[in-house]
Amino acid sequence: MLAWLGLRERKVRESRWRRVVARASAPGKVILVGEHFVVENQPAIAVALDLRARVTVEPLEGDFRVIVSSRNLGREEVFRPREVNESSPLYPPYYAALKAMELIGRKIPLRILIDSEIPPAAGMGSSASVAVATVAAVGAVLGIKLSKEDISRLAYQAEVLVHGRPSGIDNTIATYGGAIAYRKSEGFLELEADFSPVSLVLADSGIPRNTGEMVRKVRALLSKYPRVLEPLYHAAGHLAIEAGKAIEAGDFERLGELMNVNHGMLAAVGVSNLTLETLVYRAREAGALGAKITGAGGGGFIVALCWKEDAEKVAEALREISPRVIVGSVASEGVRVEGPS
Ligand code: MEV
Repeated sequence: MLAWLGLRERKVRESRWRRVVARASAPGKVILVGEHFVVENQPAIAVALDLRARVTVEPLEGDFRVIVSSRNLGREEVFRPREVNESSPLYPPYYAALKAMELIGRKIPLRILIDSEIPPAAGMGSSASVAVATVAAVGAVLGIKLSKEDISRLAYQAEVLVHGRPSGIDNTIATYGGAIAYRKSEGFLELEADFSPVSLVLADSGIPRNTGEMVRKVRALLSKYPRVLEPLYHAAGHLAIEAGKAIEAGDFERLGELMNVNHGMLAAVGVSNLTLETLVYRAREAGALGAKITGAGGGGFIVALCWKEDAEKVAEALREISPRVIVGSVASEGVRVEGPS
């Protein structure tokens, strides 16, 4: 009888905790035009990709600590105040959770489980999507529906740890979804867009890349040759405006052409290489409307814009030379809170 009562008590306690588990997810991103130039306050255009990072947050009992587990990295780490390993790849999500708790004004011990479909270090904003979903899930577990503005702002602070001086485009698109025109000094503008006629085919160069390092390299070139490169930055800004107009008009042929021009500009600032060029040209030859590096370059992925009916043909051609090809589309939804459950 006593044993039975103990079991019942435990079950009640467990179900109480189970009820406050919260889940949130956020999409990855593809920059269609303007990466790197956006760091120097030129406009850029990004879309949310229909691959998501999912984060589950569960309150724990006992002393304050945050356990972060990543299914993708196959790694778990316990963070306690004054005992944090800042160089861990799991530190930024811990930091995002901490910032969310500080904003809400309540700190409780937590377990954070990360499960992401977005390939890491691929220029698809995986770290920003994880940070956005973490902040939203921590808010939900504490019973607070954080505003999108707060979610994006706190995720940006975690992004600074990952990328040094990011423009803010990744956390913005992961929060709001859809298609946005973004400018550092002005924030973002949602574009009225119907991407249903097109697919995005992404192909991996197989070369890992580091956004912070690439951004530093491009900025060093700009400070070495300001009179040469500043006009290119202005041209990239005009190109992003033209691309935004093409998107709102549903003129994907024009958008593809502008993506090709933008790729040439990225090659000019030194973030392309033979592997990326080969992928870009193969995609164009196979019928893409446009193809370019997406994200920081130096490695990572290229993106090809294709009519839906041509996507498989382009993907097939890219599979012959790329270790990983993803056929995706634009996701209209940004961050989504799926709990508490
Ligand atoms: C990285 O996804 C895009 C870059 O423009 C850097 C940034 O915007 O922070 C290269």
